[in-house]
Amino acid sequence: MSSQPSSGTSAVAEAALLDPVGRLLPHFPIPALLSSHGPARIIALCNQKGGVGKTTTTINLAAALAEYGRRVLVVDLDPQGAASVGLGVSPHELDLTIYNLLMERSASITDVVCSTGIENLDLLPANIDLSAAEVQLVGEVARESALSRVLRPVLDDYDVILVDCQPSLGLLTVNALTAAHGVLIPLECEFFALRGVALLVETIEKVRDRLNPRLEVDGILATMYDPRTLHSREVINRVKEAFGDTLLHTVVGRTVKFPDSSIAAEPITTYAPTHSGAIAYRQLARELVARGDAA
Ligand SMILES: Nc1ncnc2c1ncn2[C@@H]1O[C@H](COP(=O)(O)OP(=O)(O)OP(=O)(O)O)[C@@H](O)[C@H]1O
Ligand SMILES: [Mg+2]
Repeated sequence: MSSQPSSGTSAVAEAALLDPVGRLLPHFPIPALLSSHGPARIIALCNQKGGVGKTTTTINLAAALAEYGRRVLVVDLDPQGAASVGLGVSPHELDLTIYNLLMERSASITDVVCSTGIENLDLLPANIDLSAAEVQLVGEVARESALSRVLRPVLDDYDVILVDCQPSLGLLTVNALTAAHGVLIPLECEFFALRGVALLVETIEKVRDRLNPRLEVDGILATMYDPRTLHSREVINRVKEAFGDTLLHTVVGRTVKFPDSSIAAEPITTYAPTHSGAIAYRQLARELVARGDAA
């Protein structure tokens, strides 16, 4: 390989300050430790498209915020229980899950919250039982605000609550949007990524109008980005054109370390602490704190 001329150095230094769509990358400082905790800001991780990185982002953003001393609760709102498994909990062996909290007024959230192997990070687990809730909630009074009711007793115990939604815009997701202060939309950098985002935005607007006036879109997070492909770069530039600064500066690259850490049932921040994927989720945590979207 031939070596590059030395004039490349300043270009590299300059490029280091730009995000993948060419915007100046601000410095996101390490957040100061909190002297007290709560009330929590609730963020729903939402996209009805499957496999875009909702669960991966929930787990790793939660772990990164916990590393910065934030008290974090992950709410698994997907009957597949992937967030629970990814945090080392086997939800199929549990008698009590979020399903019981949503359906039985007598169930207490403190009996259902599990601690994880990560300091400052707790989990409200889900398993396949939750698939019945979608149908059973339909007949309930205030069916859209069941999750808000469930979370109310622990709001002061956490700084951030992240809700991992299933890939649908059904009643469970509407419950997440009704409980939330903000929505974070993971978007895979592939060709059909933008399909369906209009419907998602429409759903968010409907929930804001009818059920939850405080709801805001915190940001769109580009995931599985591969800077070597023209395709990835085209997609992220189109997202920037369509959504402007709703597209977060932080971008998560495509790497096999994420599926590897899922198999290990650990966040990437502990499984491979110095890997670029761990660094990206720490930057995301700092970016959200800097934007005022997390404590
Ligand atoms: N940045 C990434 N690079 C490579 N693989 C990734 C990345 N993020 C997530 N993955 C992998 O892609 C798959 C889907 O990710 P994930 O489960 O987080 O998506 P999801 O949106 O929660 O899916 P679902 O809609 O089924 O709930 C998983 O196997 C995960 O390990
Ligand atoms: Mg998921």
